[in-house]
Formats: sequence, structure tokens, C-alpha cells
Amino acid sequence: DEAADYETILVTQYGPALVVTVNRPRALNALARQVVAELLDLTNRLAETLPSADEAEPGEWACRGVIVTGTGEKAFVAGADIREMSGMTPEQAEAYARDMHQVTLNLEALPVPVIAAVNGFALGGGCELAMACDFIYASANAGFGQPEVSLGLVPGFGGSVRLQQRVGVGIARELIMTGRRIDADEALRIGLVNRVFDDQAALLEAARATVGEVAGQAPTAVANAKATLNAVAHRSVADGLEIEAASFRTAFTTEDSRVGRDAFLAKESASFPGR
Ligand code: HXC
Repeated sequence: DEAADYETILVTQYGPALVVTVNRPRALNALARQVVAELLDLTNRLAETLPSADEAEPGEWACRGVIVTGTGEKAFVAGADIREMSGMTPEQAEAYARDMHQVTLNLEALPVPVIAAVNGFALGGGCELAMACDFIYASANAGFGQPEVSLGLVPGFGGSVRLQQRVGVGIARELIMTGRRIDADEALRIGLVNRVFDDQAALLEAARATVGEVAGQAPTAVANAKATLNAVAHRSVADGLEIEAASFRTAFTTEDSRVGRDAFLAKESASFPGR
């Protein structure tokens, strides 16, 4: 399997969960260009191999969720690689940012939930990677922030867009313009993370349990719900309701929805065919 050729990320399947671990602990898992290239390759492959909700001939739903995490107990991802960036021209820096933008868009486009399991520092590009995931779990020692202004930079991997969406305009602007770092409890309070766990083992176990929970639901419905949430997120309420109405209609064309309704009415648990 060519996926085994990655050098800076680890990809492991645990039951229905695919765990992607950024693995450069000596640099606190900073997103060197090689990491970005490998994440781009992996997410392109996942986009090709995972079924989509509207395919006539869907493939296997072997993967029902992706968990993104980092090696070690200190860092999730400490950001873009500052050492590499110091040798880049503005053109190279822009290309680096655009490649990572594509990674984040690929994660958002996957037909399964993507959970960030933030096991330590998630700073700059690390916070941005986490925010490209559907939702974020954290360990108690996690730290979040967009410290780019302390380096004379600005968020470059999507933070300007996604932090405002996640936590609201005021808090996002305060965090980005001060570069301030916040701890896991503060991240929980502002809604950046959903849940906080005592340690890394509990964090990863909970993320896998959540994928297990998703795996009990109709695959096409989860994919449709995620695609709808994506499409609606950036629109007016009226536009969003139009998109939702179309998605709701599409859901009614799936066998999953018939199976789900029939099972409920028969007081049985559904065995979804995934189409
Ligand atoms: C490259 C990094 C790094 C990074 C840490 N290291 N962060 N290398 N890029 N982002 C390296 C250190 O140089 C050091 O290497 C080793 O990892 C351990 O880090 P220390 O700093 O010694 O650890 P500690 O003192 O515990 O501090 C942890 C830390 C700090 C608070 C997380 O490392 C830190 O502030 N890192 C930078 C965080 C940051 O500013 N990120 C945003 C980057 S800009 P050696 O060889 O000395 O052991 C960004 C922009 C995105 O992300 C958009 C770009 C287009």
C-alpha cells in the first residue's frame, strides 16, 4: 500500500475510524512542506476512495470517521514550520498556504465526520488544521491560539475565515489581533472545542467512540448532513433553507432512509445498506 510511504504522517485504521497522526515530534509536529504535501496526497486519496452520498454505485463504507491528532503529549501541531518559512519567498509562502488551504477544503469535503483530537499545543496552522475538522476534542493540557502577529505574519491556513465562524467575530478578532494563547478550559468556554479530557488516552478513546456512534447511523444521511451543513454555513438563512430543502428531498431517495423509517416503525434497529 502506497499510503505506507508517508514519512511525516501516520495513518491507522481502528475499526470504523481512520486516525491520521502528524508525526514530527522533534519540531512539535509543525507543518513542514512535506507534511502539507503528504496530507494533500492522503486527503485527495480519501476523496477518491470514500463513497459520496449521491453516487449511483457507492463503494464500501469501511471508514465512518477520520480523527486528526499529533504524536506525543506536548503538541497537536505547533503551527506552520517557522524554520522552513524563514527561507521562503513570498511566492513560495503563498503556494505553501494554498496547498494547506486545499488540505482543509478536502477535509471539509469528506463524506464522513473529521474530528480533531487536540493532544497539546494547537497554534497558528495547528489551530487552523483543527478548525478544518468538523469538531474539536481536546486534552486538558491543550493550548490554542493564532500567534502569527507575534511573527509579523497573519493567519494563513484559513484562520481568518474559520475562527470567526467558530467562536464569533469579537472573540476571533481579539485572539487574532493579540496573538493570545488560551488553555483547553477557555477553548471549551468559547465553543472552540466540544469536550475536554483528562489525558491523551481518554481523548483518543472518546474520539473513536464518537466515530463508533456515527457508524451506527445511516452513512448516506451523515454524508448528506455534513454536505448540507457545509453548503449552508456561509449563506443567508433563506439561501440555507433552500439548500436544506433540496438535501431533505435527496435523503428521501435513499434506501437508507426507507430502511431507517421501516426499522423505527417495526421497533427494530436499522441495518443500513449505505445507499
Ligand atoms: C518549527 C518549531 C515550531 C514551529 C516548535 N518548534 N514550534 N519548529 N516551526 N512552529 C521546534 C522548536 O524550534 C524546538 O526545536 C522544538 O520544536 C521544541 O520547541 P520549544 O520551543 O523548545 O518548546 P517549548 O519551549 O516548550 O515551547 C512550545 C511552544 C513553542 C510554545 C509551542 O515551541 C512555540 O511557540 N512554537 C511556535 C508556535 C507558533 O508561533 N506557531 C505559529 C507559526 S506561524 P529545537 O531544534 O530547538 O529543539 C503559522 C502560520 C500559518 O502557523 C500560516 C502560514 C502560511
